[in-house]
Amino acid sequence: MVGFHRTQSLLSCEGVPLDTVADAVGTPLHIYSRAVLLTRFRELDVAFVDYPHDLHYAIKANATLAVVREMRAAGAHADANSGGEIDVALRAGFSPDQIVFTGVGKTHDELVRAVTLGVKAINAESPGEMERIDAIARAHGICARVAVRINPDVDAGSHPHISTGHRSNKFGMTAARAHAMVTSMAAREHLKVVGLHVHVGSQITSVDPLRLAVAAIVDLATTLAAEGIALEHLDVGGGLGIAYQPGQATLTVDEYAAAVLTAVRHTGLRLVLEPGRWIAGPAGVLLTRVVDLKAQEDGRWFVIVDAGMTDLIRPALYGAWHGIDVVAPRDGAEIDCDVVGPVCESSDILGQARRLPPVAVGDLLAVRDTGAYGAIMASNYNRRPVAAEVLVDGNDWRVVRRRQTIDDMLQWDE
Ligand code: LLP
Repeated sequence: MVGFHRTQSLLSCEGVPLDTVADAVGTPLHIYSRAVLLTRFRELDVAFVDYPHDLHYAIKANATLAVVREMRAAGAHADANSGGEIDVALRAGFSPDQIVFTGVGKTHDELVRAVTLGVKAINAESPGEMERIDAIARAHGICARVAVRINPDVDAGSHPHISTGHRSNKFGMTAARAHAMVTSMAAREHLKVVGLHVHVGSQITSVDPLRLAVAAIVDLATTLAAEGIALEHLDVGGGLGIAYQPGQATLTVDEYAAAVLTAVRHTGLRLVLEPGRWIAGPAGVLLTRVVDLKAQEDGRWFVIVDAGMTDLIRPALYGAWHGIDVVAPRDGAEIDCDVVGPVCESSDILGQARRLPPVAVGDLLAVRDTGAYGAIMASNYNRRPVAAEVLVDGNDWRVVRRRQTIDDMLQWDE
């Protein structure tokens, strides 16, 4: 069976009961379903099947090597957002021509690496960055492939922290400025503008922001083509949201593909997509054990668990909602509770105002949809070691990232 489901009453991942892994590896623990990763990658890929496209998996969503390798084996290309992510991509087996390098604030060293590797495109965020790429390429006697990131001044309708396409955000540049820049740089010997890029935010659940974003780069590509500047691809970024809450309205992949392809098709340009969350989010859960139960004054409970904001920061940072399930539910009256972590911050809440089956100290909980922006956003705050990660494949499972030890954590200290 694909993904997370109950066998009898016990929560399992594919053929593996979650308590088996928790007993063997300890908690907190991130568990990923290989089948979910692959099924979702394929579903997205199939939605675009009738148009030339490449799915560049956004490594930032989950950069664990085993996960990135699964994406490569499935046929993905890579979207890297730092020198570190370029290295992850290379170690996972991607070739430079399968990597797009995105992100604001690329350092000189990162640009040198990307230019000399010959990545498929460096998504340039500013005229200054274009000049720096040009200078590096000239110094190395090579031609750098760049795409220009447009800021279309669109409200993604997502949380402000993860909306990137408004003019007040640091990302990209206006289409007008990009147009002037590309035309003025068209004759540069060491710079080839191969594409346009846009990404207006993450966890987008309605079609309009995406449609407007794609339209912005399609319009500019059309203008440039009329002026004799031919591009190779249009990079529409990532951003497709998932339903964290039961019944939450989201876009289907088919609605998403229809919106993108309707806008892009007439250009004939190859389509690049950078999906992260939609593929990896539902593929993971965070397993945690109850360490204490404390009655609140109003009759509700604090369920205090061994995972906190250091293992999953999304609720604290964005007020994000993640489903929480008891792995082996007991009979009895449900309780009203806040599920909180052990970190010294009142924002260290994994789930507020929840109703759960009765729980006891030692019981296992699974925090749902943590495969994207979960483990990768971990920190050592309160000197808490980073959790282990496990990949489940059918009836088999293996640790793909071991738990950090106290010695690991302290080894950088002089
Ligand atoms: N491309 C670019 C240029 C991006 O900035 C991002 C995400 C993606 C692709 C992938 O977007 P996705 O398909 O995953 O939505 N930590 C936040 C999400 C930050 C997203 C940053 N950029 C969270 O936990 O919700």
